[in-house]
Amino acid sequence: MTLTVNLGMRSYPVVIQRGILSRAADWFDLDRKVLVVTDSGVPRIYAETVAKQCAQSVIVTFPAGEESKNISTWLSLLDALTEHEFTRTDCVVAVGGGVVGDMSGFAAAAYLRGIDFYNVPTTLLAQIDSSVGGKVAVDYKGYKNIVGAFYQPKGVLIDPDVLDTLDSRQRSAGMAEAVKMAMIRDAELFELLERGEGDEKIEEVIYRSVQAKARVVEQDETEGGLRQILNFGHTLGHGIETASGYTLLHGECVALGMIPMTASGLRERLTTVLKAMDLPTKYDGDAEQIMSAMAHDKKRAGDLITVIRCPALGECILQPIEFEEFLEEIREVLR
Ligand SMILES: NC(=O)c1ccc[n+]([C@@H]2O[C@H](COP(=O)([O-])OP(=O)(O)OC[C@H]3O[C@@H](n4cnc5c(N)ncnc54)[C@H](O)[C@@H]3O)[C@@H](O)[C@H]2O)c1
Repeated sequence: MTLTVNLGMRSYPVVIQRGILSRAADWFDLDRKVLVVTDSGVPRIYAETVAKQCAQSVIVTFPAGEESKNISTWLSLLDALTEHEFTRTDCVVAVGGGVVGDMSGFAAAAYLRGIDFYNVPTTLLAQIDSSVGGKVAVDYKGYKNIVGAFYQPKGVLIDPDVLDTLDSRQRSAGMAEAVKMAMIRDAELFELLERGEGDEKIEEVIYRSVQAKARVVEQDETEGGLRQILNFGHTLGHGIETASGYTLLHGECVALGMIPMTASGLRERLTTVLKAMDLPTKYDGDAEQIMSAMAHDKKRAGDLITVIRCPALGECILQPIEFEEFLEEIREVLR
């Protein structure tokens, strides 16, 4: 399955195919010097499979985890590019989850004011969501994704076979992003997930999720308006993520964050789907603590906060509400 993210000169293909990792050179121009970036948790064989197909390659591996998504790791990527004398015609390939993708994309965006970047996402979350759309960033001073850019990849290769090595908790966290896309843009995808067919039809789940995201990004590449809907579940989700000290995964927090923002008549269907995926539907925490973790949220303006609500399957609306009102609503997911 192939789809195109249509952004004029910056358009690119997203290919979803089992085994595509070993045929990356059919889609990416690897006949040059290539920085292959990965992390210590990604089975080494994936980066090596890509590296083998390059005219010349340098593999850089940093320690796995969100803690690595910082300026010093980013500088280490720039160091590798400089030390190996990468030029404007060379490129970077990310082989990993969202952390590897975001970091490598941001290094490619900055080096020589931008060299080609390709993404080979290896977690379900990265395949469904983060590898497409061009948001690249690092965390700084405790703030997630606060330093970054919009920088589109030249191509994205999604090989569902690499998910075989992913643990089930990470897989479920990725599924949460598919539920998100389904809730706000694709009622049929929601029904597929509701029937419990997500695992057996994983290619379709990835394809439909990416397609839905691509159509939004095409209309609003730099999040001036419509793209904000992709933050459904994320406003509260980010607050819980920070308040939990990152003990919960991003997708798990998104799962929790969607619940109070979903119309009451639909909420039970949502929580049933989330539970079936082993995702949390209640958080053992304190509303005030979550709110203070959110106090610097980018989406907050004055005492108002823009929330994204799902009034009906496949639909969503943006709504500015008082911070206090939000505080009341989030109690829904607290134990
Ligand atoms: N750019 C965007 O639009 C966007 C969107 C959503 C999330 N993100 C970012 O993505 C990041 C989260 O990404 P993630 O959930 O992929 O986490 P991650 O990149 O930390 O990967 C999770 C873990 O899985 C391991 N792993 C990766 N692939 C594997 C495989 N095939 N088999 C076994 N282990 C594997 C990694 O080493 C890591 O330990 C966050 O930093 C978040 O901010 C970005």
